[in-house]
Amino acid sequence: MKFLRLTELPLTNQRVFIRADLNVPQDATGQITEDTRIRSTVPGIRYALDAGAAVMVTSHLGRPVEGAMKPEDSLAPIAKRLAEILGQPVRLISNWIDTEFTVQPGEVVLLENCRLNLGEKKNDDSLARKIASLCDVYVNDAFGSAHRAEATTHGVAKYAPIACAGPLMAAELDALGRVLENPARPLLAIVAGSKVSTKLTILKSLASKVDQLIVGGGIANTFMLAAGMRIGKSLAEPDLVGEAQAITDMMKERGAEVPLPVDVVVADELSILARANPISADQVRPTDLILDVGIKTSQDFARRIAAAGTILWNGPVGVFEYEQFAGGTKTIAEAIAAANAYSIAGGGDTLAAVAKYGIADRISYISTGGGAFLEFLEGKTLPAVAVLEQRANQ
Ligand code: 3PG
Repeated sequence: MKFLRLTELPLTNQRVFIRADLNVPQDATGQITEDTRIRSTVPGIRYALDAGAAVMVTSHLGRPVEGAMKPEDSLAPIAKRLAEILGQPVRLISNWIDTEFTVQPGEVVLLENCRLNLGEKKNDDSLARKIASLCDVYVNDAFGSAHRAEATTHGVAKYAPIACAGPLMAAELDALGRVLENPARPLLAIVAGSKVSTKLTILKSLASKVDQLIVGGGIANTFMLAAGMRIGKSLAEPDLVGEAQAITDMMKERGAEVPLPVDVVVADELSILARANPISADQVRPTDLILDVGIKTSQDFARRIAAAGTILWNGPVGVFEYEQFAGGTKTIAEAIAAANAYSIAGGGDTLAAVAKYGIADRISYISTGGGAFLEFLEGKTLPAVAVLEQRANQ
């Protein structure tokens, strides 16, 4: 992948416009509950400031209605947190498309939620040109939004005098590219979550690349159904049994496999008070809900993880939010942390599990992307990356 990088450019007195992904979770009172994306954006901002640039940063927050700002759409809490981390003031600028504003070298301003601008979502050409005219250098450091072709992620990159990738974007592309292009073998992927349908494309794409594919959660239930196993009233998609079988067959043809649980943890209901019952996978009753893998299965997964050269983790294998169903995910998390392999974790639930088990510093790379992470692994072209490549080739 060839694209310009921020760190290759002279920036003294340049107007630098950074599209970041500062779409962070907040509680009902607007307090930021998890700030990884803000902290990951700081190195790019700091680099540009130290190099003498006048820095403008923008991001979307949520999915607001364009032109109709509500208080919860504002980046104000993010400006505050950014200022704390940077150790310097961060002015928040509203209506930045229609209002004149100036930024001094060494100063950083945050431009209000870019999805409030009319035409942002539709990647409107005249909006993209207006944004491009605000800067000398456009920086895309928003890997989490790289699968969106919007005015600040795509259109502006066509018209800005220079368009480059920020350090976070570059690190994400380098790390994920390394896994897909030249992984240390065996390459093991753990793909878990509630539905096969939302991860079918990624499962298929990975089935042609990985040496082992561990499936978990509702996805595993559908694979168990395909193998003729009983799953009681567990979450599954019976209409996708054929697809699950096809993925297993694809793996088998290459001498690879999709290991299925030999034991599971079941309950009558999904609730914090539910009584967990560990049983053999062939003893699931019609009234059972499978909510985690059992000890034998998680130990088997841990052995496979220990033997891997590269590990890709997306999705918890059980309802780890409830302690009685967290054993499988905890074992996997600890096995990944202990492995010698190059490991990558990504996706909202996965990052919550990484945080819960305190293993962040023992994972080789943690992606800030949710949808973008999955689409990259599916082998899709991310529009925001494609346009940076086009600019580099001009
Ligand atoms: C994310 O949270 O995955 C990104 O910020 C993209 O958000 P979107 O799905 O609203 O485009």
